[in-house]
Amino acid sequence: MRITTRGLRGRSHWFSAFAGALMLMSGGGLWAASQLAVSKTAGSPYDLKITAGLADVPSGEDRFVAWSDLDSLPTEVLELEGEFVPGMQSVTVVFLDQVMGALPVASQADTVLAWCTDGYFSIYPPEFIARQRPFVVLRINGDGPDKWPPEGLNFNPGPYVISVADEVVPGTEAILDVGHKRPWGVDRIAFVALNTALAPAHTGKWRELSTAGNVGRDIWVNSCSSCHPGPGGLVGGDKSQRPFEILAAHAKYNTDYFRTYVRSPTSVVPSAKMEAHPHYTDEQLDALIAFITAEQG
Ligand code: HEC
Repeated sequence: MRITTRGLRGRSHWFSAFAGALMLMSGGGLWAASQLAVSKTAGSPYDLKITAGLADVPSGEDRFVAWSDLDSLPTEVLELEGEFVPGMQSVTVVFLDQVMGALPVASQADTVLAWCTDGYFSIYPPEFIARQRPFVVLRINGDGPDKWPPEGLNFNPGPYVISVADEVVPGTEAILDVGHKRPWGVDRIAFVALNTALAPAHTGKWRELSTAGNVGRDIWVNSCSSCHPGPGGLVGGDKSQRPFEILAAHAKYNTDYFRTYVRSPTSVVPSAKMEAHPHYTDEQLDALIAFITAEQG
């Protein structure tokens, strides 16, 4: 992917300076107050469902934000190569931090969780949001999700895609398994406190892990959790349809199988659907095993 629009970053600065000025003028209150309307019921299949983390919404209740309201927030047009279809395309986006800023997000909720129609999951911790500026895709070559998939793509990536780009923050491509921060088919998100979301990975046997175990936790949360539920109900997707205990048994008693499977699933099981991780080093596999088996420090 490559950007051709010049001045993108200039405009971002302008927007944040503007937001900052408004915050100063209003003491933070007005700007932080909801600018996006939230509804109790879905008005369209293109509404974004929010399942947790809005102030004053009882837990267990969902809220919905309309695509057209998201589209009326300050958006930017990125010129990206190969994001959805071959070649250059204009992708109209709203940055995730601006979506959060326009919603009455509960005070402790600093993390965005996203789930997809196929059970895939992604997590955006606050540091990642601030540094990598993930964005929500609203239009591809000018067309909204009611006209997706765009010509040249035979899979509908909607209703929402969250993504990150080197063109927005140079160096993004170098992040380990950065593809996990580009979920397609996102149909619901939640705002949570990071320490609450990750609590099961820091509780019980997982409380005082070895150094490797701590490294493995990070890899697990940012990569494996996209398709695998973690220990003790740790947030994660369920695309794999494999309970955590099965992975833990392999990691503990069947280490060679585990290592080979993670690097190249089809070399062990030809019909495997899991994505390969040929780039993982021995240390990263050791770290994953240390986390999964709760190796103590
Ligand atoms: C894109 C989804 C996806 C991701 C990401 C993913 N897995 Fe999987 N995983 C699967 C699926 C699906 C299966 C079920 C078997 C298959 O079709 O490959 C599976 C199976 C496995 C198995 C074999 C279980 C068995 O029953 O033999 C292991 C071990 C495993 N995953 C470990 C991991 C680890 C560790 C990570 C993170 C580095 C990871 N997976 C990331 C989708 C995923």
